[in-house]
Amino acid sequence: MKITVVGAGNVGATCADVLAYKEIANEIVLVDIREGFAEGKALDIWQKAPIDLYDSRTIGSTNDYAKTAGSDVVVITSGLPRKPGMTRDDLITTNAGIVKSVTENVVKHSPNAIIIVVSNPLDVMTYQAHFSSKLPRTKVMGMAGILDTARYRAFLAEALNISPKDIQAMLLGGHGDTMVPLPRYTTVSGIPVTELISKDKLNAIIERTKVGGGELVKLMGTSAWYAPGSAAAQMVESIVKDQRRVLPVCMQLDGEYGIKDCYLGVPVILGKNGIEKVIELDLNAEEKAALETSRKHVKEVMDVLDKLGK
Ligand code: NAI
Ligand code: 2OP
Repeated sequence: MKITVVGAGNVGATCADVLAYKEIANEIVLVDIREGFAEGKALDIWQKAPIDLYDSRTIGSTNDYAKTAGSDVVVITSGLPRKPGMTRDDLITTNAGIVKSVTENVVKHSPNAIIIVVSNPLDVMTYQAHFSSKLPRTKVMGMAGILDTARYRAFLAEALNISPKDIQAMLLGGHGDTMVPLPRYTTVSGIPVTELISKDKLNAIIERTKVGGGELVKLMGTSAWYAPGSAAAQMVESIVKDQRRVLPVCMQLDGEYGIKDCYLGVPVILGKNGIEKVIELDLNAEEKAALETSRKHVKEVMDVLDKLGK
């Protein structure tokens, strides 16, 4: 299996490192526009192989997409991260141009690749990549829900003083403050979380999750990379090993949840063909209203992209 990761910055290099370390693919190509940067990161990851005992090869490339030819999965992380005081949506003008040109180069050399977008604003960059790739919607998706549910699960594990391994959760909507965590679909080894934690504590965790990305930007001056890089690698793994994991993934909705032509996170089965199936949950009125708020917000940013010209 051959995987390309575009953008050798914080998220891209972390993702490539996880892919190599876990031997998710035997060939990983890292691409960046900065001269020599991807080559350096790829060499560093390769030189870790004798220590950590893996045999995945990592190869770097300065904007030479010929080296990415025939990739099975491509992860796009190229683009600016946000700085303190910025929202993800503030990145649209710069990152849309980057995601457009990167996607065009990717499909030229790997017409059968499945594309996973990470660049922000996530839902709208997935729209850009889907539009530019001209691929079916099942083959172009965004990573956000795995990260957002991981934050939610980590906060819950801390509050309940239990292992994060035993917390399962689902989340819908856009990657932003309007995301829709779903307490009704959150369990601890099968036990509804609502039986283990008070409503107030759970609400506080949900609110912290919604601004979880911003919390890290404030602390570090740039956005997170360890959890985002691992989250993207988890999606790659489910595809290349045909694991058929049930994961929240951003995609173009075509009538699911009563929504058309909007890019939002929903639970899907992820396998060798990309999105194998969308899972439609039976939402209550409150959940439906929260999803509608999220849809409206993402649609507004999609409209900005339409006006800029995709
Ligand atoms: P970074 O600045 O560390 O890395 C970005 C890399 O992209 C840089 O090395 C840069 O040279 C490269 N790049 C820029 N234009 C390029 C082009 N045309 N072709 C190839 N490479 C190019 O940023 P970081 O922290 O890795 O974040 C990357 C993106 O991912 C940002 O947009 C950030 O907001 C987003 N992000 C999304 C998350 C999500 O949950 N979806 C989570 C974390 C970050
Ligand atoms: C995050 O949530 C910035 O989207 C990125 O960390």
